[in-house]
Amino acid sequence: MNEFYQKDIISIKDYTKDQLESIFTSTDKIMKLSLSERREISKGKTLGYLFYEPSTRTRLSFDSAMASIGGNSLGISDITSSSTQKGESLADTVRIMSIYSDVLVLRHTLDGSSRFAAEISDKPIINAGSGTEEHPTQAIQDLYTIKKEKKKIDGLKIGIVGDLKYGRTVYSLLHGLGNYDVDVRLISPESLRIRSDSTYEIKKKLDFTESTNIEDHLDELDVLYVTRIQKERFPDEEEYLKVKGSYVVGLDMLKRMKDDTIILHPLPRIDEISADVDKTKNAKYFEQAEYGKHTRAAILGMILNENGF
Ligand code: CP
Repeated sequence: MNEFYQKDIISIKDYTKDQLESIFTSTDKIMKLSLSERREISKGKTLGYLFYEPSTRTRLSFDSAMASIGGNSLGISDITSSSTQKGESLADTVRIMSIYSDVLVLRHTLDGSSRFAAEISDKPIINAGSGTEEHPTQAIQDLYTIKKEKKKIDGLKIGIVGDLKYGRTVYSLLHGLGNYDVDVRLISPESLRIRSDSTYEIKKKLDFTESTNIEDHLDELDVLYVTRIQKERFPDEEEYLKVKGSYVVGLDMLKRMKDDTIILHPLPRIDEISADVDKTKNAKYFEQAEYGKHTRAAILGMILNENGF
């Protein structure tokens, strides 16, 4: 039996390097299948999604991934049009969705929401973003992108810049990178440094440095992972305004990087990467979004098929 069958995906911390690599192998495999072969993988199965926060890529890539493997999707993308507006609890909403679906994808404002939902649902739960805590399938797609574009993960120098305090993709990525031998440089405004409660755990697995100055690292990096400073997470708008626009990756910065440095971003982007970078060979964030569909198709295929595909 494949070890992902009927299992939740709550935290990237739950996965070993071998398990991550087996998802990457399944992703490679799914991308090589013909359309008709892919459509057999989850024929007749239903994905249910519940998004308590806005999303473009995560929800649509799950939707598109499920369609590509022959399944269908239903769910709630705008919580204001659901019975949550009438006061229905997360627990009851999850219970109901698990009746209508074979696997559930949940994005919620609260840390711990997916683990809570997993205790209630008798169908597997996939965490599509829980508060400022985790976004594990984003990390899987990020690691897969690095591996595809750089042909390896071990040995790379990786800069992560932007909102490291509130960025859930950053926490999941750091825990995922903890399975590899990498040199990580964290770059952020002082007020957006990685949260100290998480640093302790990450430090056990990963070497990283922290600084505020991106210039010091540009000529050394193999990967620059840029994140948005997330206005919606700041308790005080004044604090947001102090750090808004702290880092903008443009052609001037790109000239000081290695020729083959790749630039990633979980997206959405606001102004932290200028649009003229998009057409350069270094910009890989749209490929990253595309790999998100294929990694999610592989994950769904493994969760829904006892013997894999
Ligand atoms: N990267 C990501 O989670 O994007 P969305 O918020 O659009 O889903």
